[in-house]
Amino acid sequence: MKAPIMITAAMDEVELDQLKKELNDLQKKEGKIATFYEGTLGGYPIVLCHTKVGSLLAASAVTEGILNYYPRAIVTQGIAGAHASYIHVGDLVVSTEVIPIHSYQTPEKKKGEGSDSLSWKIQIFAEGQDEEEKIGIEADEKLLACAKTAQGKMKNQKVFLGRIGSGDVWNREVDRICYIQEHYQTLCEEMEGIAIFQIAQQYQIPVLDIRAISNHEVLKESYQREVGKKAQQFTLEVLKEYLKIE
Ligand code: 5AD
Repeated sequence: MKAPIMITAAMDEVELDQLKKELNDLQKKEGKIATFYEGTLGGYPIVLCHTKVGSLLAASAVTEGILNYYPRAIVTQGIAGAHASYIHVGDLVVSTEVIPIHSYQTPEKKKGEGSDSLSWKIQIFAEGQDEEEKIGIEADEKLLACAKTAQGKMKNQKVFLGRIGSGDVWNREVDRICYIQEHYQTLCEEMEGIAIFQIAQQYQIPVLDIRAISNHEVLKESYQREVGKKAQQFTLEVLKEYLKIE
């Protein structure tokens, strides 16, 4: 039997409810860090990984999942807050790349000079890496191609492809959101993708992030967690395409 595809989500009720209904032969397994649901889709093994919220738990959970199941691909999915002004609550965003919006080097300031988060620069700290190097991790090309095919089939659903900002922060300052969007071209923000991309990259496992927009601070569109179902439905369509080619 082929290795499973792993789908992760931070919140079980909001981001896994639909997938649990769609999978066959579902079995719950408690790990030390995450909860897993083993199942099948069209006969192929799928494992759902409930990571809980935030990058530390997401990284630990996905590592536990990788060591338990050796997945051949990982899709991290769920809800997110919009950054771009042309994106609205209920739209979907698919990652071409994920960047860390919690990893910064600040400019030097003396005592009494204060702090200005609009002057902070995103940086991945790695040995021997200089400031100009890449800050993001790219999504897998085949998974992305499957998302484009699924997008073509969704007539009444807006799906945007681009950069997702991810980190342990929920930004509610409009100036800060606009600063990140303008400097780093992020379409939305969430809290787990970067951790899952970093771990998937270490294990060389193809990875993709799919998000449904649940809130838009800039446009004053308030939080709607029910959009989590849309991310799950789209994830299923992407998986069906992937299972045809891989
Ligand atoms: N900022 C950060 N995370 C968000 N999430 C939804 N909206 C936002 C937002 N505006 C997601 C995170 C996390 C949970 C709190 O909801 O990914 O899992």
